[in-house]
Amino acid sequence: MPRLEKLVAAASPHSRRAAAGLIKSGRVAVDGKTVTAPDYPCAQTAFITLDGAPLLLGPRYIMLNKPKGTICATKDDNGKTVLELIAEPLRKNLFPAGRLDKDSEGFVLLTDDGPFAHRLLSPRSRIPKTYLATLDRPPDKDILAELFCSPIDLGGGDITSPALLENVDGVTARLTIYEGMFHQVKRMFLKAGYKVEGLRRIRIGALELDPGLGPGEYRPILPGEMPLLIRQD
Ligand code: URA
Repeated sequence: MPRLEKLVAAASPHSRRAAAGLIKSGRVAVDGKTVTAPDYPCAQTAFITLDGAPLLLGPRYIMLNKPKGTICATKDDNGKTVLELIAEPLRKNLFPAGRLDKDSEGFVLLTDDGPFAHRLLSPRSRIPKTYLATLDRPPDKDILAELFCSPIDLGGGDITSPALLENVDGVTARLTIYEGMFHQVKRMFLKAGYKVEGLRRIRIGALELDPGLGPGEYRPILPGEMPLLIRQD
């Protein structure tokens, strides 16, 4: 069984040495009982608290409503990253699974689960991502739908797989794509003669961005929502 200090460090912003100090000073409890030995053998399934607050072990999955102007990276010298929107204790080891451009907004998944992120992002998984694109003028839905349902050569070796233009409402088009090439949505519309003036991701897999989340707000993905994230239809 792992040592308690290792589990506390894994589930908190603290280093292993700092976790050992917290345990020694009596601030950590395991299944309701204070434990002061950092090397206490502790089950992964134990209920660990720090100052009475539960420490969550295991991978984390967070739905963020990215505001315009933030950068989808863990670190950037030139601007605010999406990670900086997340409260410090939750931030450790998180990274954005996929990117939205700085001027795009909407659903970003933050996780510390590398294999899951890989599965979500791999073009072979064909996980749909749905966007609302605001265009420079009202498009002709039928022409666009026909264009997008065939592969489009975006240049630089990027060829799209068939995408779904589902709806057009004035200058706003709802488009679902099945991979995530650089600036893919903007380049697809540009190829069709339209400039994207605003872009919002509203859905990953079959999971909608929670309408209760304002720009910059986030919440954990609920266990029942996990299968929706990787649903292919
Ligand atoms: N496609 C784009 O062009 N930009 C994004 O941010 C996401 C998809």
